[in-house]
Amino acid sequence: MDRKYWERIAPSYNEEIFDVLKNDKSGKIVTAIEQIASKEKTVTDLGCAIGKWIPLLATAFKQVIATDISAKNLDIAKERCTAYPNVEYVRMDMSADNLTVTPCDVAVCINAILTHDLKKRINFFQSLNICINKDGHLILVVPSLESKLYTNIIAHRWNVDDDHKERIESVEKAYALAKNIKQGVTDIDNVPTKHYLQEELQLLLTLEGFTVDRIEKINYTWATEFHNPPKWLAEPYPWDWMVVAKKN
Ligand SMILES: C[S@@+](CC[C@H](N)C(=O)[O-])C[C@H]1O[C@@H](n2cnc3c(N)ncnc32)[C@H](O)[C@@H]1O
Repeated sequence: MDRKYWERIAPSYNEEIFDVLKNDKSGKIVTAIEQIASKEKTVTDLGCAIGKWIPLLATAFKQVIATDISAKNLDIAKERCTAYPNVEYVRMDMSADNLTVTPCDVAVCINAILTHDLKKRINFFQSLNICINKDGHLILVVPSLESKLYTNIIAHRWNVDDDHKERIESVEKAYALAKNIKQGVTDIDNVPTKHYLQEELQLLLTLEGFTVDRIEKINYTWATEFHNPPKWLAEPYPWDWMVVAKKN
C-alpha cells in the first residue's frame, strides 16, 4: 500500500474503497468532529483521498488543510469541493522521514494508517504529533483487529460465504499470511492491511505525546463483511476503532 497503489486506485476509488462516512450509521464520527469544531479553529484531513469529509470540515472550521499521498486523489477532491473556498490541498507523505507541515488545531485521520510496513507506520504516527498544535485534538479511525478476527471466526465456524472463499495459492503466501497476522496485518481484498488492537492504539498514541480521551467502536452492518450474513447474526456488529485524543 504505497503511493503507487493509491494513485492506481484513484480513478475507481468510489467502487474500490470502503466509505466510512456513509457506513457510520451511528454518526459517531460526525458527532465527535462537531463537538470539537469551531469557526475559530483550523483542521487538517490526513489522507483525505477524494475528499468525502471535506464538506463537513469546511463548513465547521475556519480553514481546512486537506492532505494525501496521492496527487490524483487530491485532484479529484479539489474538483468535488470547489464550493468550499477555505480548503488548501497539499500532497504529502505522512510516512516520510522528514516532513514540514503547517500544524492545525485539529487533525482528522480516517482509515489512512493502513500500511503493512512497520517503518512507514512508525513515521506516520510520529507525524500525527507535528500536524497538531499543543492542546489540539486528533480524531483517528482505524480498522479493528478484534473485529477482523471475530469476523473470521464466524465465517469459519458457520461457513459463511464459503468461509470467505479464502484460497492460499502458495507456500510463500501461507508464510506471509502467518507472519503478517502476528503483527495485526491481515488482507482486505488481497491487500495486506494493518488492523489495530484497542490497547495497541492507547499505547501508540500515549508514546507519541497524546492523552487518549476515548476509544469507541464505529459499528457497521454485517453486510459490510459478508455477501450472505446469516439471518441470526446480530450484535456485536463489525467495527472500526475511533480514537479521540488530545496533544499534550
Ligand atoms: C482508505 S482511504 C481513506 C480516505 C478518507 N480518509 C475517507 O475516509 O474517505 C486512505 C487514504 O490515505 C492516503 N494515504 C495512505 N498513506 C498515506 C501517507 N503515507 N500519507 C498521506 N496519505 C496517505 C491514501 O492515498 C488514501 O487516499
